[in-house]
Amino acid sequence: MIDHPLVAHKLTRLRREDTSSATFRLLTEELVTLLAYEATRSLRVTPVEITTPVAPMTGVELAALRPAVVPILRAGLGMLNGMTKLMPTAEVGFLGMIRDEESLIASTYAERLPHDLRDRQVFVLDPMLATGGTLAAAIELLLERGARDVTAICLLAAPEGLAHIEQAFAGRDVDVTVVVAAVDDHLNERGYIVPGLGDAGDRLYGVV
Ligand code: URA
Repeated sequence: MIDHPLVAHKLTRLRREDTSSATFRLLTEELVTLLAYEATRSLRVTPVEITTPVAPMTGVELAALRPAVVPILRAGLGMLNGMTKLMPTAEVGFLGMIRDEESLIASTYAERLPHDLRDRQVFVLDPMLATGGTLAAAIELLLERGARDVTAICLLAAPEGLAHIEQAFAGRDVDVTVVVAAVDDHLNERGYIVPGLGDAGDRLYGVV
């Protein structure tokens, strides 16, 4: 959980019911950049010889196998700009997932991912970690493609969702990390995070 006054301030503005879609999109982008700064702390780098105007030196650059960023459609799309601003060379894959509003079970309706994710550091973008069903299904798909190092970046999580992810991946030979701006109180009977911010997709893009 990222404990930072700028994150807390922007998240509070994001939660307010009177925040417009335009402002919501802007705040989401800013928040993701702040979260991504922490989430990318263990990015792999390789040494590189450079010359400054003063002297030669050894610096670092991102390792050749580019990180992959995977927004989960629809709401994860609102997080993509904030992430690619920080990491413009990342490769982007897309995963369309929807949860049934009654059973709360997630299913995949679209997928455009690199076929081989072995040795890739993968960053999944999904603003709301509610029941954890969607994120767990998305991570399973990435693991099937060979990924072993997956970081999910979320704006808000419910304790139930975090527990679901922990149960699903603990004890397996994979490195799954969740980076989140805040952990809220609970899920309501409709699977919404309380106090939360409502439906992230609707707030970003309007009700369809
Ligand atoms: N998805 C959302 O957009 N909001 C929630 O509170 C839970 C899931």
